[in-house]
Amino acid sequence: MMQITKPVSFENVVSMEDLSAEDVMSFIHETIEFKQGKQVELARPVYAANLFFESSTRTHTSFEMAERKLGLQVLNFDPSNSSLKKGESMGDTVKTFQAIGADVVAIRDKKNEYYKDLIEDPNVHLGIANGGDGSGQHLSQSLLDMMTIYEEFGHFEGLNVAIVGDLTHSRVARSNMEVLTKLGAHVFFSGPKEWYTEDFQKYGEWMPIDDLVSRMDVMMFLRVQHERIAADKNGSFSAERYHKVYGLTHAREQRMPEHSIIMHPAPVNRGVEIADELVECDKSRIFRQMENGVFVRMAIMTSMLRYRGLVKSEY
Ligand code: CP
Repeated sequence: MMQITKPVSFENVVSMEDLSAEDVMSFIHETIEFKQGKQVELARPVYAANLFFESSTRTHTSFEMAERKLGLQVLNFDPSNSSLKKGESMGDTVKTFQAIGADVVAIRDKKNEYYKDLIEDPNVHLGIANGGDGSGQHLSQSLLDMMTIYEEFGHFEGLNVAIVGDLTHSRVARSNMEVLTKLGAHVFFSGPKEWYTEDFQKYGEWMPIDDLVSRMDVMMFLRVQHERIAADKNGSFSAERYHKVYGLTHAREQRMPEHSIIMHPAPVNRGVEIADELVECDKSRIFRQMENGVFVRMAIMTSMLRYRGLVKSEY
């Protein structure tokens, strides 16, 4: 029998702000247990749906994989072929899935904090896992990032972590700066300085990437969100210049400490944030992050099933 850590039990799992450092560590330990083969027995057939109103490959697919590994029945939803096309709202879509029998849903939407209205609605009872809200939170990505760092170093206290790139548009940056600080790591920022706005200043200082690479345990790069930049500024962006000034070039990678790692939530703009060949180099944990994402989402879903009394046993 595998050792079970303090089980986390949440009605919904939507924002890092709701999680204490202890909760995050419990999620990390349970994620490791799932990676080592932990299983759950469900109290009855349980139904899940993944309602992605914004595009996704990793988060959507790994929630689905997590649900299948837990033995949940997964209901299909294709927004491009749904009644959204007839003007149905996101809220009514969620309530429709609840009425049809979904117990838990993972949702991604372009609206920041879309989940607040749902959680406050007395007619919504199903469990909501946030798969990303606008430029707000990306809790499941943040937990899988923390799991990947913990797997590597075995602690957070005193680690130096640089978050580099498109801070303004990044829900990953916001979730991670909060949780890393809570866990005792030191956070630094880099990338175009105009993207280092007031929100980031209380979490860590901005430095040019050349002053950071030799001192960091973790270099965490963020995707340049061309779609959001274009909407903001009619986009004048040079990929070549960005890579040269702010990206992980071969020369910068050579200056990273032996033990240090490279992370990126992906999708990666190869040759922009990170030189193409470095995406899969020895220091890169980018595909490990994706692998860990399945187990973290198993832990997230299990916490909501526990809350609802739907977990019969764990072993
Ligand atoms: N990292 C991430 O959220 O990727 P997707 O947009 O493909 O889900």
